[in-house]
Amino acid sequence: MTSTLASPDLRRRLEGIQLPDPLGFGTLMAPVMAIAHYRDGAWEDVRLDALDPLSLAPHTQALHYGQAIFEGMKAYRNLGTDLPGTALLFRPHEHARRFNRSATRLGMPELDEDVYVATLERLVSTLDALVPERQGQSLYLRPTMFGATAHLSVVPSTEYCFVVLATPSDAFFTAPISAWIERRFSRAGPGGTGNVKAAGNYAASFAAAAPLAKLGFQQLLWLDAVHHTHIEEFTAMNVFVRRGDTILTPPLSDTILAGITRDSLLRLAGSLGLSMVEKPVDVAELVDAIASGEDVEVFGCGTGAVVAPVELIGDETGLRLPLPPFPVATRLRRHMLDLQHGVLPAPAGWQR
Ligand code: COI
Repeated sequence: MTSTLASPDLRRRLEGIQLPDPLGFGTLMAPVMAIAHYRDGAWEDVRLDALDPLSLAPHTQALHYGQAIFEGMKAYRNLGTDLPGTALLFRPHEHARRFNRSATRLGMPELDEDVYVATLERLVSTLDALVPERQGQSLYLRPTMFGATAHLSVVPSTEYCFVVLATPSDAFFTAPISAWIERRFSRAGPGGTGNVKAAGNYAASFAAAAPLAKLGFQQLLWLDAVHHTHIEEFTAMNVFVRRGDTILTPPLSDTILAGITRDSLLRLAGSLGLSMVEKPVDVAELVDAIASGEDVEVFGCGTGAVVAPVELIGDETGLRLPLPPFPVATRLRRHMLDLQHGVLPAPAGWQR
């Protein structure tokens, strides 16, 4: 990767930045971003620019009708022995493809996959000093696209803005989490946008999550919107359940995000001697299994979280179920981080 930061002003902005300890998540924003506009049916070249406020008309389409999508990605410091110290991107082409699926679902233009990946590489190379050194930390990357036309007609934008932001971050969760079975609200309905990274999917979780945060719960465990009988996803992660020797995750559908960490775990399972199956998980059965002392693990996975074991499940009936230790989630988290940090060789084509 070669850095192409031509402007002295941008170079100056990068000088002398100290990484705080702890880093937190999304607190310190890199002062440089990548940006490109789509106008007259074509994308202009992506350029690097200062992370200054954007000037948007109050009637910018995305602010009213939510034509906005994003990805979550990470650049990890290479802690392995092959080219140590470089910065590694994990499955960037998969992220590019998912970004385009999100764009298509929201009626937005696609971005060339190679341009997407080259943009990420260029930004990471420029921001190399902000890629943290410790295992589990990363330069979190946030590619985003939004409808930028200033109009109130309920039609797609004709202009779009693509930005990639970066923020040196700790792991999204640094300790086991608690999850709340959400029966009142739903995350995604059949035929909706639950299977893509539409910005509004996340806004729709906030009202449900706020009262639970006060009770100390960190993630919602969403159920299917039709029957409310099967688990689908956490607020910001896919969900896995281990019952004895079998690990289950709900099969992909139009209400479940095709997580890249989820996909990676499913692909890696065989080589780790684990049996993973995509199969619906009934929430009542899961609760009974935990309550009866069965050997169960529940964990989330996603780019931000990597693998996050659940230590407590609660719900509106007063249920408070502590979960036993989570050896498999711990092993999977370690394995994923070793791959992402270049400590273990990643499958062909996964690492850039
Ligand atoms: C991610 O895992 O990167 C996500 O996009 C989820 C979240 C941080 C909103």
